[in-house]
Amino acid sequence: MAPSILLLPGDGIGPEVMNEVRRVLDWYARTRGLEFDIDEDFVGGASIDVHGVPVTDAVVTKAKAADAVLLGACGGPRWDDLPFEQKPERGLLRLRKELGLFANLRPALVFDALVDASSLKPNLVTGLDIMIVRELTGGVYFGEPRGISELGNGQRRGINTQVYDTHEIVRIGRVAFELAQKRGKKLCSVEKANVMESGVLWREEMNLLAEDYPDVELSHMYADNCAMQLVRQPKQFDVIVTDNLFGDLLSDCAAMLTGSLGMLPSASLGESDAYGGRKALYEPVHGSAPDIAGRGHANPLAMLLSLAMMLRYSFDEPAEAALLEGAIERVLSAGKRTRDLMAPDCTEVSTSEMGEAITVELAAAQ
Ligand code: IPM
Ligand code: MG
Repeated sequence: MAPSILLLPGDGIGPEVMNEVRRVLDWYARTRGLEFDIDEDFVGGASIDVHGVPVTDAVVTKAKAADAVLLGACGGPRWDDLPFEQKPERGLLRLRKELGLFANLRPALVFDALVDASSLKPNLVTGLDIMIVRELTGGVYFGEPRGISELGNGQRRGINTQVYDTHEIVRIGRVAFELAQKRGKKLCSVEKANVMESGVLWREEMNLLAEDYPDVELSHMYADNCAMQLVRQPKQFDVIVTDNLFGDLLSDCAAMLTGSLGMLPSASLGESDAYGGRKALYEPVHGSAPDIAGRGHANPLAMLLSLAMMLRYSFDEPAEAALLEGAIERVLSAGKRTRDLMAPDCTEVSTSEMGEAITVELAAAQ
C-alpha cells in the first residue's frame, strides 16, 4: 500500500504553492515510481468558510491517520474579526497540539544563487546553513492560565503563561543534540534565564543532557542576544534549540538571511512510535500573504523544500529529497526568480512557471 499524505492548502497563497506540490508529486509518481495515496482537505479560513470552524474533528482524525501532512498557510484579513478561538490560526495550533508535533525543524540555508537577495552582506551569508529547532507544543502558546478577564474597575487583564516541564525540555533537547551530532556538532540553547525561571530550568536541563552527548559542544545564549547575533555573524551557529515563542521570532529573522521568507521550509515532528514512524507535518515558514494571493507571484520554493523534508524525514528517501533540492538550486542558478527574489539579470517567473521549471530540471537530472 502506498504511504498516505494529507494536503491542507489552507488560505491565501497556500493553494497556489500547494498546486506546485501536486505537480512535483505527479512527476515523482510518473517517473520515479514514488507513489503516495493523496487526500486533500480544508484548514484555516477555508475550513471556516465551509464548516464554520478552523479545523474539523474529521480533518484532525485524518491528519493523525496519515503518514505525513503537508500544509500551505492559514489566516487572512477576512477572518481577523472572528473571536480568538475561531481564528484560522487556531486550526494549525490544534493540529500541532493534537498530533503531538513538539519538534519544529526550521533550516535556514542560503543558496549560492541567492546570496545577493539576502539583506546582509554576501560574506556574512555565503554558505550559511543553520538549523533552528523550535519547541512547538508548549510554552506561552499553550500555557494556562490564559485569557482576558474583567477587573471590574474598567480595566481588563490579558494573561498568558510561559510554562515548561522537564520532560518537554528534555525531549526537544534530545532532538536538537541528535541533529547537531549529524551536522557541525555545535548546539546553542536559547532562552532568557536572566529574567525567566522557565529559562533557568531550560538551561539546567540542557546542561544535564549535554552529558549524554559529549561529542556536541553546547553553548547558551539569551534570546535577545541571539536575535542580534543572527544578523551580526550568523555563521557562528550550527543548531539552535529554543522555546515556542523565541523560536517563532528567531526563525523569521533567520529566514530573511536566506533572501526571502519564501525560501524557508519546516518540519514538525512528533515522538517516534514503536514501529519507527512518527507523526509529521511539513509547512513553509511563511504565512498566507493575502496581499499577493491569487496573482501568481507567490514563491513555491519554501513549500517544495518542505516536500523535500517530507521525503527525507517521513519516508527515508534522502536521494529523492536531494534530487528535488538540487533541481531547485539549479533553477535559481539559471536566474529564474519569483517576484520576491527578483534581481537584475534574472527572469521573473510566476508560481506555476517556477514549479514547471523545477519538473523540467528534475527530468534533466535523472
Ligand atoms: C509560524 C506561524 C504560526 C506561529 C502562526 C500562524 C500561528 O507564525 O508557524 O511561525 O506563531 O507558530
Ligand atoms: Mg512565525
